[in-house]
Amino acid sequence: MQSFDLYLPTHLVFGKGRVSELGNLVAGRGKRVLITYGGGSVVRSGLLADVKAQLAGFEVFEFSGIEPNPKIESVRRAVELCREKSIDFMVAVGGGSVIDATKAIAAGVFYQGDAWDLLYDSSKIGRTLPFFAVLTLAATGSEYDNTGVISNPETDEKLFLGAPNLFPVASILDPTYTQTVPAWHTAAGAADIMSHTFEQYLVAEGNDLTDGFCESMLRAVIRNTPKAIANPDDYDARAEILLASSFGCCGLLAIGRTPSPWPCHGIEHEISAFTDITHGAGLAIITPHWMRYSLTEATAPRFAQYGVNVWGLDPKGDVMENARKAIDCTAEFFVSIGLPAKLSDLGVTDEHFEEMADHLLTHWYPFDGALRPLDRDGILAILRASL
Ligand code: NZQ
Ligand code: ZN
Repeated sequence: MQSFDLYLPTHLVFGKGRVSELGNLVAGRGKRVLITYGGGSVVRSGLLADVKAQLAGFEVFEFSGIEPNPKIESVRRAVELCREKSIDFMVAVGGGSVIDATKAIAAGVFYQGDAWDLLYDSSKIGRTLPFFAVLTLAATGSEYDNTGVISNPETDEKLFLGAPNLFPVASILDPTYTQTVPAWHTAAGAADIMSHTFEQYLVAEGNDLTDGFCESMLRAVIRNTPKAIANPDDYDARAEILLASSFGCCGLLAIGRTPSPWPCHGIEHEISAFTDITHGAGLAIITPHWMRYSLTEATAPRFAQYGVNVWGLDPKGDVMENARKAIDCTAEFFVSIGLPAKLSDLGVTDEHFEEMADHLLTHWYPFDGALRPLDRDGILAILRASL
């Protein structure tokens, strides 16, 4: 059993109608609030109006238009706005992109330099602006973690920042507000949650407790995603996926296990950096190929365990055969929920693969601790197999 830290200061507020408690949660935080949101889904769903009603006693400012794969330019503009209006706290209303951008804004406001510096070096993050989140899409876990991912189209980079004071103060999760998420983003979000789980589950050393957490996460998402896609208003299916979202990235799944370098996320962020594809869709393509690359005689028992405990394969079956079947089940599941099987289906070519591999090796965690250690050739092999 490995030693670990687990620090989860965010107050999770989960359930139908609980946005009505936002006013109480933010009480005493100051006078001026900035609401951050994306391209307008929260306007159409009525959530923005519900949030504003809760902030009636405050001077309210808005910053909208935060993009999927949020861009540093949006962060820079919002940082200026926060300074100009002397904002006391923020409320992020949206998916992972809005929450991530809000984290970068929170860190950028008190940083005497360009916010992009913080993506290269999180140790430069000092004081941060407090913020709350009202989540609308089950996927990233940004509502319950302290990292944010920001893209810079000028440098073709997608990098993350993180600091102990970048957790949301509180996150409100009402499954009702995820019922308007279209099938594509519902599926991509499910793939993202599953990938967060695989990244922590498929490591050299696990333990009984968190093997179970991970397997339960995977079973819940696999069982409920097809239901949510077939019937978008299925509250219980949406609720199961939303709950899984929050536990994907908060560190709970990793306790006591071999620390993971999150290889699929490293590779996917490179692809998104160059091509702006949807994060979860990229993961759905890469993950089965990373699994095939990582399958060896030594690692087969872990994949076989996944096959038995998540996909119901025969526990008495041949270990290598079960491992291969488990990987095939994973790939087939992603296709069954409407996600692509090849990067070329998303218009990605191999033009930048070499640059991606080089950038990954200098800007990501070392891959020595991956289930199967990954070098430049390994990264390129996974990228080419995914094409
Ligand atoms: O912009 P709006 O109009 O709100 O539309 C969004 C967006 O177009 C739409 N949407 C969100 N909620 C909706 C909705 N449409 C209808 N009804 C709703 N209730 O969905 C689209 C995608 O939203 P986005 O926030 O981009 O998706 P997601 O939550 O998947 O976030 C993806 C970003 O998070 C990063 C990814 O790399 C990517 O940039 N990640 C953040 C992580 C973290 N902070 O811990 C970890 C993840 O691994 C990931 O890297
Ligand atoms: Zn992810």
